[in-house]
Amino acid sequence: MLKVLKHPLITHKLTQMRKKDTNTKDFRQNLDEIGGLMAYEITRDLPVHKVTIETPVATCETEEVKDDIVLVPILRAGLGMVNGICQLIPTVKIAHVGLYRDEETLQPHTYFEKYPADMENAVVMVVDPMLATGGSAIAALDMVKKQGAKNIRLVCLVGAPEGVKAVEEAHPDVDIYLASLDEKLNEKGYIVPGLGDAGDRIFGTK
Ligand code: PRP
Ligand code: URA
Repeated sequence: MLKVLKHPLITHKLTQMRKKDTNTKDFRQNLDEIGGLMAYEITRDLPVHKVTIETPVATCETEEVKDDIVLVPILRAGLGMVNGICQLIPTVKIAHVGLYRDEETLQPHTYFEKYPADMENAVVMVVDPMLATGGSAIAALDMVKKQGAKNIRLVCLVGAPEGVKAVEEAHPDVDIYLASLDEKLNEKGYIVPGLGDAGDRIFGTK
């Protein structure tokens, strides 16, 4: 399932990020804020279980979130989404998957991975601002599945139709969340209109 999260605040903040003159500080801040807004939507169907608690006034039958939530940022750019999501879900555990896309072949290369215990029973959220060819997301999803993850969502900011199709074919069980489905990829594998190189814009590199 693909879900594009339409909300005026998300669109407004993404517009600021897309502008070529937006500086590193504002780019990061808007990404942070969008991460928080997206977190609200992507957790809407989290499994809950019944609990009985004592309020100062009475006994109360209510619910709590049942499973651990593991965020899996794809390094580097995925790190830019962690803070905003953590503000809303401070108990998340954070795995790391290091991948970079070869600029010539566009193929993903793995350079790091680290996970918490018990990925099998967690709700796993793989996060990366950009879903272009889908190669990096597919590789990250392969990696978390090797760790036993079963309940997985992919959360990106901007996606290209080519990347969405590739992920849907490789991982039909994974729900994909985007803030925007853009037009296409260009000949260099960049999303059009996109926002440029997310990692470089977050970290001020070139
Ligand atoms: C970017 C982006 C994704 C990937 C998307 O990372 O953050 O991980 O490209 O492209 P794909 O869908 O075609 O695989 P990049 O490889 O530039 O690394 P970085 O985050 O370290 O800048
Ligand atoms: N990675 C990025 O950072 N931007 C794109 O447009 C495509 C891949």
